Order: sequence, then C-alpha cells, then structure tokens
Amino acid sequence: MENGESRAIAIANNKGGVGKTSISINLADRLAKRGHDVLVIDTDPSGNLTEGVGLKDAFQNGTHFGQFLDDDEDEDVGFSDIIVPGEETGLPFDVMPSHEDLAHYQTRIDSKRMSMTWMDEQIVQPLLEQVYDFIVIDTEASPDSLWMDSAIYAAGNVIVPLDDGGESVSGFEMLRDRQIDPIRKHRDVDILALVPNETSNNNELRELIEILEEQYPEYTPSFARIERFDDSVGPGIRDRIQIKRAWKDGIPLSEYEPDHEMIERFDVLADIAERGGVDG
Ligand SMILES: Nc1ncnc2c1ncn2[C@@H]1O[C@H](COP(=O)(O)OP(=O)(O)O)[C@@H](O)[C@H]1O
Ligand SMILES: [Mg+2]
Repeated sequence: MENGESRAIAIANNKGGVGKTSISINLADRLAKRGHDVLVIDTDPSGNLTEGVGLKDAFQNGTHFGQFLDDDEDEDVGFSDIIVPGEETGLPFDVMPSHEDLAHYQTRIDSKRMSMTWMDEQIVQPLLEQVYDFIVIDTEASPDSLWMDSAIYAAGNVIVPLDDGGESVSGFEMLRDRQIDPIRKHRDVDILALVPNETSNNNELRELIEILEEQYPEYTPSFARIERFDDSVGPGIRDRIQIKRAWKDGIPLSEYEPDHEMIERFDVLADIAERGGVDG
C-alpha cells in the first residue's frame, strides 16, 4: 500500500443486532472508495452478511474457508475458489462468504487444537499486504465462538459497535476481559474504536456517551463525543431508516443514498482504520 499501513480489523461484540454487519459493509465501502483494496470476511455462521449481499448460493453450496482445515489432499482449496470478487457482486470490495457448514467446522478446529492462530496463518497473513490493504472481519455474537477468537487474533485490531445505555459498556468490558485480554497474551490487539450505533437522543444514549467520555476517550470517535448533543444531528451513528434499507438491499449506504449525512461518520471510521486508532 502506498500510504500508511495495511490492517485487518475485526468488528466484534457479543450482542446481536448492534450493527456489526452494517458497520463491516459501510467501513469496507469507505475504505474501498479511498482506493484501498478491501476484503470482507463473513465469519458469522448465520451468514447474515453473505446472504445480505446476495450470495445465498455460496452460503449453501459454495466452497468455504472452513475447508482450509481439511486434510484431504484431493480437496485442495484455494483463495480463488472462495473469494467472490467485487466485479461479481457489484460491491466495491471482495467478499469471503460464510457458509452454513461453518458451525460444524468450528468443532473441528477445536478438536484439531488449531485454535486461534488458524485464521491468521491461513488467511490473513497470506492476503494482507500482498493482496489487500484492508481486511474487515465480520463476526458472530457469541462468547464461545472460536471463529470470533480466531478473527480477533487474526485481525489484531477490533472495532466494537455499541447500542444505547451503560450496560453496553459492560458488554464491551466483558469482551475485553474475557476474550481480547487472553489473546493479548499471545499477540498485540488494539481496540480501535467503540462505536455507538443506531442512536437517538434519549437518557440511555446520554448515559453511554458520558461513560465513554469519562472512561474511554481514547476509543471514542469524534462523532460520539458529548458535545455532539449540541449539534442538530447528535452523537453516534444515528438510527436511520436508510441504513436499514441499504442493509436490506445488501449495499453500502453510499450506494443507497450517496448524500446521506451518516456517510461521513463511516468515513471517520475509515480514518481510524487507516491511522490505527482514534488519535493515530
Ligand atoms: N444506524 C442504524 N440505523 C438503522 N438501522 C440500523 C442501524 N444499524 C443497524 N441497523 C439495523 O439493525 C439490524 C441489525 O444490524 P446488524 O448490522 O445486522 O447487527 P449485527 O451484525 O450486530 O447483528 C439490521 O436490520 C440493520 O439494518
Ligand atoms: Mg451480523
């Protein structure tokens, strides 16, 4: 990459419906529109992102990255068998789809004790820098998911979407203490940002933003600072029907509505991804 470092980033939170998949798609979109080569990996066995972007057939019938774990010589699987290029989907980034069999493959990695390092060695190391400037890894909401541990290990960088209220910070702290910190015994993992998502101005949001302001300013993007309550828009990635509709259509917000006011907030996340943190 010409300017700056390449980076893999896991989008993680043990709660479902907080915006992991939306943020994965829109962050990848903003990075790609800056001219970076971007891959999105869907490691969620429910395949939300994969099906969302129109790859239902790959989800049910395709070759998948779990097959890298197969020993069978005759089943030699390469990246070109798995990665769906942007030209095929019309998306500005490539996708490594999820597959309905991945839940079953997870047990298999467990039993092989290939554990956390597997995704790093087999996928991220060969692809990051050589092929892609950024790899965005969407994860499932599950504290027991080895896919998620592998994704965090492989990425070495995490963005955590949060929903309203102080308890979402406790959720982040649990993720940090129980999953990220143990991985940090083996490799550095940077928390790039905590991202309040689907926000509207209410007491729960105020409570969340105040905690972030006090305890985690180093992880708080500019658009989620407390002074944003004085703006007409308000802090966080706001609850916007267009974000939901873009998701439903399997496209980034910028393609659904090119002038939408939330695009610049996803651009702030792209800045953070490029710099490696809120303050660089
Ligand atoms: N900022 C937002 N405004 C409106 N709807 C949103 C927003 N973020 C996410 N959603 C919607 O909420 C639902 C869950 O989001 P999703 O990204 O799938 O979460 P997760 O991947 O964490 O389960 C989806 O229907 C999505 O379109
Ligand atoms: Mg999801």
